Amino acid sequence: MKDRKRDYYYLKAKRENYRSRAAYKLAQLQNKFNFMFEGMKCVDLGAAPGGWLQVEKEIAGPSGTVIGIDLARIKELEGILTMKADVTDPSVVEKVLDAAGGKVDVVLSDMAPNISGNYDLDHERSAALVLAAFNVARRVLAGNGSFVAKLFEGRSEKEVFTTVASVFEDVRMSKPVASRKQSSETYVIATGFRE
Ligand SMILES: C[S@@+](CC[C@H](N)C(=O)[O-])C[C@H]1O[C@@H](n2cnc3c(N)ncnc32)[C@H](O)[C@@H]1O
Repeated sequence: MKDRKRDYYYLKAKRENYRSRAAYKLAQLQNKFNFMFEGMKCVDLGAAPGGWLQVEKEIAGPSGTVIGIDLARIKELEGILTMKADVTDPSVVEKVLDAAGGKVDVVLSDMAPNISGNYDLDHERSAALVLAAFNVARRVLAGNGSFVAKLFEGRSEKEVFTTVASVFEDVRMSKPVASRKQSSETYVIATGFRE
């Protein structure tokens, strides 16, 4: 029973040639909040194996720029720039600005820590990754840009929300239908970056 939904998106991803079932989470968030657009410059932090990148490229189209960064190597994807780097490393900001040829419209993060099984510890590590992504976002986003990041729910959620909300017009939390029910993940969707 509990594997039914996972199997549904897992099989759908296989059938539709997406590299991960996570692709449907991003597509669902996009359908609801509409933060990506044709021609956008977009950076995806924690992008391996690349399901999100495929969705981003479909939306950005040939005139857009899509950049994916991960600790792991991302297997080549046509029309997408990929880099192997640690997002917590301060040099990532320059790397993104160089690769994009300036500021970008959208920063996305699906980064997740290695799961320890300790709920509080995993939450704190996830919150630290959201803040690392946010620190990149606030340096590379153009005015009115958007930031979307995965967060494991827990006690620092409010703090993360307040930090992000300090520089965006609108911030929401949302869990896409494709997220497994038993998962504690949620997504921060921030739009209207104030430079
Ligand atoms: C859930 S996966 C991303 C899946 C991806 N959105 C997709 O659709 O294929 C999370 C990724 O975050 C990456 N990650 C975790 N910490 C990171 C860090 N500090 N810097 C870069 N990538 C990181 C992991 O290597 C992993 O590939």
